[in-house]
Amino acid sequence: MWDRSKRKGWPVLAVAVALTVLFLTSHLPSAGHHRAFPPPPQCASMRASLVPSAEFVASRNTVGSDRFVEGTAPVLIRNAKILTGARNGTEIVFGDILLDKGVVLGVGYIPNALTQLPNLKSIDAGGKWISPGIVDAHSHLGVYSAPALNGASDGNSIKAPILPWLRSIDGLNTHDDAYRLAIAGGVTTAQILPGSANNIGGQAFMIKLRPTAERSASAMLLEPPITLGLNNSDTRTKYRHMKHACGENPSRMYGQTRMDSAWEFRRAYNEARKIKDAQDAFCAAAEEGLWDGMAAFPESLQWEALVDVLRGRVKLSVHCYEAVDLDALMRLSNEFKFPIASIHHAGETYLVPDLLKKAWGGFPAIALFASNFRKKREAYRGSEFGPRILADNGLPVIMKSDHPVLNSRHLIYEAQQAHYYSLNPGLALASVTSTPANAMGVGWRVGTLATGYDADLVIWDSHPLALGATPVQVYIDGIPQLSSPATLHKPTPFQDVPQTPSWEKEVQDTIDFEGLPPLEGRSIAGSVLFVNVSQVWTRKAAGHAGPHTANMLVLVKGGTIECYAPVGDLSRWCASQGFAADAEVVDLKGGVLAPGLTTFGSDLGLSEIMLEPSTTDGPVFDPLTMQVPDILGNTVVRAVDGLQFAGRNTLYAYRGGVTTAIVAPMGRDFLLGMGAAFATGASNALAKGAIVQSETALHIAVNSQMPASVSTQIAALRNLLFSSSASGPWSRVQSAAIPLVITVHNADIMATLLHLKTEFDASSSSSLRMTFAGATEAHLLAAEIGAAGVSVVLAPARPYPESWDYRRILPGPPLSRKTSVMTLLEHGVNVALGVKSDYDVRNARFEIAWAALDSDGAIDYTTAMALSSSNMDKALGLDAAGAANEDFVIYQGGGMFDLESKVLGVASGRRSVVDLF
Ligand SMILES: *[C@@H]1O[C@H](CO)[C@@H](O)[C@H](O)[C@H]1NC(C)=O
Ligand SMILES: *[C@@H]1O[C@H](CO)[C@@H](O)[C@H](O)[C@H]1NC(C)=O
Ligand SMILES: *[C@@H]1O[C@H](CO)[C@@H](O)[C@H](O)[C@H]1NC(C)=O
Repeated sequence: MWDRSKRKGWPVLAVAVALTVLFLTSHLPSAGHHRAFPPPPQCASMRASLVPSAEFVASRNTVGSDRFVEGTAPVLIRNAKILTGARNGTEIVFGDILLDKGVVLGVGYIPNALTQLPNLKSIDAGGKWISPGIVDAHSHLGVYSAPALNGASDGNSIKAPILPWLRSIDGLNTHDDAYRLAIAGGVTTAQILPGSANNIGGQAFMIKLRPTAERSASAMLLEPPITLGLNNSDTRTKYRHMKHACGENPSRMYGQTRMDSAWEFRRAYNEARKIKDAQDAFCAAAEEGLWDGMAAFPESLQWEALVDVLRGRVKLSVHCYEAVDLDALMRLSNEFKFPIASIHHAGETYLVPDLLKKAWGGFPAIALFASNFRKKREAYRGSEFGPRILADNGLPVIMKSDHPVLNSRHLIYEAQQAHYYSLNPGLALASVTSTPANAMGVGWRVGTLATGYDADLVIWDSHPLALGATPVQVYIDGIPQLSSPATLHKPTPFQDVPQTPSWEKEVQDTIDFEGLPPLEGRSIAGSVLFVNVSQVWTRKAAGHAGPHTANMLVLVKGGTIECYAPVGDLSRWCASQGFAADAEVVDLKGGVLAPGLTTFGSDLGLSEIMLEPSTTDGPVFDPLTMQVPDILGNTVVRAVDGLQFAGRNTLYAYRGGVTTAIVAPMGRDFLLGMGAAFATGASNALAKGAIVQSETALHIAVNSQMPASVSTQIAALRNLLFSSSASGPWSRVQSAAIPLVITVHNADIMATLLHLKTEFDASSSSSLRMTFAGATEAHLLAAEIGAAGVSVVLAPARPYPESWDYRRILPGPPLSRKTSVMTLLEHGVNVALGVKSDYDVRNARFEIAWAALDSDGAIDYTTAMALSSSNMDKALGLDAAGAANEDFVIYQGGGMFDLESKVLGVASGRRSVVDLF
């Protein structure tokens, strides 16, 4: 995260540097005076071990944790499958776990004597999985708070590129709505990093997420360093933490180049080195007795943290993507001789593992997203196989949230995806527990469940690597965090590690093509015979042949399903169609054929690299908030005219089973324009079936973020709706020929819009077709929306109170029994699930599966599929003709709703082709 506003801070830095030099030169030790004073305490403290002594660690079993809250009852959790996080995440202990005084007192077999503790609470886990509390190595919780308000955006100073003296703890908002949400996802510990607008953004701090009695930021700290001046009885010297950033963000913020960034780092480290050398010389002299006891130890409040980096006492987290930047970073680390704990985002690290091994002082850990790539140029080569490839090269892999970039509540989903894309399950689990804890220097107390470790754990409703895994309880410092959790009953297959598909060819292609493997499949115009198919789903209903009819054959010709039948029956069923003896045979290994999904909510098809304007269609001129060029008049812009085909996000969407995309013109303000539907697998606009429907619905947005007030936006809408001289799209909206799709999140605005619809319907012969998109707060008006016949496209599918406009989320289990989608369905609303980010469209099928899993059986799989197909089409004006010519997605090795199958291809009747990937 980084802040966009610009300001220059050179004078401050220059003065700081000058003062420091003055200070140093006047405080150097003078040689030649032999005095009988002991060296100052700084000299010994400089060399103090940062690894706690064995005695200290052992004492925790009896003394407990420094974070123990007096009065917390000991807890014995019986009958669990405990993933301890140890042995690279592979260790599983069957049995019990005992928590007392904020630490784990035993795992597995608990001796009887220990269960006699006074006030012991005993809980039967019923055989559920337990993992260590999730550790997020990269979070901006509290410094970029929810809801985002100008008054609490403290993650980045914009005063200068080099600010090692700033501390994230000084901006930690204790009222961020997201703490509670993150805990509900099992996150117990997070590293709170400053943003990445600066080369050195400041010091980071580890916190525990639970509320404290003191209600202060300091009370949340894990291992508060002595430099904070807290009166902590624990006076050990502890690791400190700091953020660095290379590449585009600091360049964009300070109008600098990569060359400038490299110099900023070197200049800063040179300052720190001078002080360190002076200190070392001072202490060497002092220890020889050659010091003037009156001279002070050389130090600088501004540079002391960077001096500590040079002393190996700071765990550095470096935001850095590309080979060029990683190379510069390795040279910096060797020139100034300091270790790098972790490299974050790290989009290209998997392409240069040997380079990373050159880091001074040992291999860095690599902290990654699972699939959030291509937002900017330096992230363009990011790969879902990065975790696996880095692990193959012996580098520690961390999955992180960059909260609120990704909602840290769902950090376990990142580990699930990494596992899906072939990171081994142990390392996937470790990537959010022991690996980040070790990299941050706190692995001796968090991230693992073993005797003497902090009592932070999660009891899950399914295997944590299974899609949709949800905590049933979370303990932090031995204190249960969920007061009345809504628990789900997950299907049996979700109780085990998913048997993920093989990706060996994709992994090799990713390396061979330096992160840009070709994504177009092999197109077959002739016949394809799919064997060992367990289900064929059609759009209306599931499984003409039910799930029990395993081993069907499906014959596809020219992209269209000719016939399907159990083995042995095919020739009879297909006889009249002419059985194709020359068909290519493809084994689905028990997989399924299911209709392609439709997506909406992102800029897919209008944008390739979000932050590179030259790769996007660009925003429209908004008549309410901008000067529209005369030449445009009242023209309503059409998305179809700006479509780009075969972009990487688009092709990944296609390879994820999303065959149709509906997109509105890009814009930040009120009037967006006409939506269009296109085929994600098409090579260009002229290819057969590429444009599914050139005009779908008219799109506008109403919110409190634009320069015109909400009431002004409503006034404009009223004018347009009630105009007697409307032409073009507005007259089609008036006659209900097309829907009016309004991107709106806030319930008060939705209520006003429902009013407007009532007004319109009363004065017109037709009933306005209205759809709310985004619609985070729609659950508050579910009954009214249902009664008004308004459709809803929830985007994102999983809510986050990002803005004041839509802070009133319905969070879903374990925080609420119901989800928004369930609530809307219950009120008869035509509801669909959208996706907000281009990269994420490929994961649409996981979103709808998750929505079904979160409903505890209320949403069956047929309904789930409709959420991103027929309901979506209806909400957004894709007419029956467009939808009729179905695309079928071919899943190998499993169903469409789990992490076991792989999309092998698409049979597109619309495009008369079978694409195999
Ligand atoms: C974890 O994996 C690393 C890399 O393969 C290996 O060096 C290390 O010994 C493993 N640790 C344990 C405890 O198995
Ligand atoms: C500092 O902590 C000690 C106990 O650890 C306590 O006795 C003392 O009063 C505290 N001092 C202040 C100023 O709070
Ligand atoms: C179909 O695929 C499943 C999963 O790979 C396999 O267990 C089964 O044996 C296959 N059946 C046939 C008849 O090949």
